Amino acid sequence: PAFTDDIDAILDLKRRRNAVILAHNYQRPEIFHCMADIVGDSLALARKAMAVEADVIVLAGVHFMAETAKLLNPEKTVLIPDLNAGCSLADSITAADVRLLRQRYPGIPIVTYVNTSAAVKAESDICCTSGNAKAVVESLGVSRVIMLPDEYLAQNIAAQTDVQIITWKGHCEVHERFTPADIRQLREDHPGVTVLAHPECPPEVVAEADFSGSTAAMSDYVGRQKPPRVVLMTECSMSDNVAVEHPEVEFIRPCNLCPHMKRITLANIRTALEQNRHVVTIEPEIAGRARLAVERMLAV
Ligand code: 13P
Ligand code: SF4
Repeated sequence: PAFTDDIDAILDLKRRRNAVILAHNYQRPEIFHCMADIVGDSLALARKAMAVEADVIVLAGVHFMAETAKLLNPEKTVLIPDLNAGCSLADSITAADVRLLRQRYPGIPIVTYVNTSAAVKAESDICCTSGNAKAVVESLGVSRVIMLPDEYLAQNIAAQTDVQIITWKGHCEVHERFTPADIRQLREDHPGVTVLAHPECPPEVVAEADFSGSTAAMSDYVGRQKPPRVVLMTECSMSDNVAVEHPEVEFIRPCNLCPHMKRITLANIRTALEQNRHVVTIEPEIAGRARLAVERMLAV
């Protein structure tokens, strides 16, 4: 009953404010399935944000995603329901760190994962997501790049390309906790299980998995291959959201929660729309340079 009150109120507010809700694949199922107008991985949300026709965008995800939506929609109001919905990767590096790296490695292009602040993007040459990182790195036509800030994503991409990759020591607090021993135990307990791992997992975890890809790539894999039993080594809501579409697939569910994603609720989406908060703003000088890095990525 509490849910239905909030759902009715949000539907009404969306109409009155001409608002859309963008939700990442890790979002709570009631938001992902009942409230979102656009869902997807970080790449899809960035792309679709550009085509949004609305006055207000509510980002049901974390702060860097709301900033990316604002970069691509400077004239729209972008709201994030909880300003503390952060990300351990975004917190692992500052703009000053990137400037120091540029001094240390002059002339080496800097590829920045979208899981970073706009200020860090502004110091970068081009952005990437887990869905396009290899293509972005190879699009630069150089033999060496710096890839920030996810050490494991960088190492996992380095294993797929001849381009040499200099990494940073950032990690996702959700994916760094999976181990190869977890996978071996899962295979023992659930014979025949297909293991899919997000590329933010350590390389030794990805090496033991049957497939690795972005959240959208994992979802597509399940839809295409229809494995009888599957485990997604990623955030917990991902399995909930994908399982709804595939009742014939058995989802084994050891998973890790992202506390930042879980800060977003129906109740605070409702408050965001009622009270117009929290409005995402980016200093114009930073926004201009950060937008360029995102747009270069979208052009690849
Ligand atoms: P993707 O949805 O791009 O795979 O990213 C996962 C993630 O951790 C986002 O915070
Ligand atoms: Fe950041 Fe990891 Fe949470 Fe994604 S799952 S928002 S990378 S902490």
